[in-house]
Amino acid sequence: MRLPLRDVEEVSPISSGRSRAALYTALIAIVAALGGLLFGFDTGVIAGAMLFIVPDFNLGPAQQGLVVSAVTFGALFGALAGGASCDKIGRRRTNIVAGMSFIAGSLLSATAPNVDVLIGSRVVIGLGIGLTSVAAPMYIAELSPARNRGKLVSLFQLAITAGILVSYLVDRALVPEHAWRWMLGLAIIPGALLVLGMFAMPESPRWLLKTGLEKAARRALALVRSPDEIDAEVREIHDDLEHNQPAGWTELLMPGLRPALLAGVGLAVLQQVTGINTIIYYAPQIFQQAGLNSAATALAATIGIGVINLLSTLVAIWLVDRIGRKPLLLAGLVGMTASLAALGVALRFGSSIGVNPDLIAPLTVGFIGLYIVCFAFSLGPVVWLMISEIFPNRARARAAAISTAANWTANFFVSLSFPVLREMMGPSLWFLYAAMGVAAFVFIGGYVPETKGKSLEDISRQWRTEPAGIVERH
Ligand code: BGC
Repeated sequence: MRLPLRDVEEVSPISSGRSRAALYTALIAIVAALGGLLFGFDTGVIAGAMLFIVPDFNLGPAQQGLVVSAVTFGALFGALAGGASCDKIGRRRTNIVAGMSFIAGSLLSATAPNVDVLIGSRVVIGLGIGLTSVAAPMYIAELSPARNRGKLVSLFQLAITAGILVSYLVDRALVPEHAWRWMLGLAIIPGALLVLGMFAMPESPRWLLKTGLEKAARRALALVRSPDEIDAEVREIHDDLEHNQPAGWTELLMPGLRPALLAGVGLAVLQQVTGINTIIYYAPQIFQQAGLNSAATALAATIGIGVINLLSTLVAIWLVDRIGRKPLLLAGLVGMTASLAALGVALRFGSSIGVNPDLIAPLTVGFIGLYIVCFAFSLGPVVWLMISEIFPNRARARAAAISTAANWTANFFVSLSFPVLREMMGPSLWFLYAAMGVAAFVFIGGYVPETKGKSLEDISRQWRTEPAGIVERH
């Protein structure tokens, strides 16, 4: 008797090989994504901790700014160093170094005897964040099969949002004890998990082949692919390495790589200049100004923002390999731009167009919530994903490092300038971020390629061979 086809598949070694490989790949993605958890936690936790650090160390405004922005500064250098390090010592070891920086920085900041040590420790944590924001998405992308790479790399963003939310909750729980040292020190736990976990994980097969270690690459692939997939993938990677010469920093600007680099840097900067961190870093203040008078209500609304940020990222995880990257990006941008414009109108013209003043606070929370939903299913995860997948194997580490450094630079300027611009422009500032949303829509719609379902090598080939679709302009 013939078995129905479905039953044959269920018992075949290929299908059982695939499900074992899928489980292993998911485990790898989860361990690497711990870097994202630390990224989110360490950028979020400082808001609450500052309430007590300021009086304890008797800090003036300039020192306060340094304590907060030291992480961004460290992340910028961490990202640049991450490119060279991913090339030299590999993706896996770079993730381990990132984990060690988190542990060292957290330990140091929790025990800092004075503000100088505290600032230094925040730079060390920043280095970890920069390293991980280059190495983790790249590592996951290089080990994932094309069919669900989007979902797996998006776990990194899910972990960032989880880290931000946990930091808000930890801050709130420890506020009564004034326990800022615990707030900062708790990051040691995920840091240690990241280091221990990564020790047990394989190196990226693409880095191993680039380094000439084919046997090790095949061993790594054997863990994450079924046996019938390995030969074809090794051939494809070899072919890509042959066609793309090794790229130093200057070659990145040559015509062959420039279009991809422009897409990566463009995406990275646009993720920031559309204003996300004005909300993530300043939400309680924005809510208080809009009329949520008590600090407790403003904080509760902020935690609400953290929750919807995390939940809406799940939408991307569900859809990114089904409908693709560009539809998510474009739909998200429409929603973000509309909410920013609506927020600007409500705050700037609300009273003159007869909006009930009692409605301004709930409208603000509503529009900001909608903006976060739209960011979280689009620019949040998809930008990190695309930075990890649009560059050819030979250039990926350095090009991703430049794009990531551009992301941190833009983040630094946007979050630094927000209080000053708000002072100068008032609510009209939201129209500026909305205008950036329009620019992002035009750039992504017209310039950025779709990468859904393609192997990393297909994407690399596409930049070489499809001038019209991928804009190889000479
Ligand atoms: C961005 C961060 C931002 C976070 C918010 C990330 O994708 O890179 O700057 O704070 O999303 O969820």
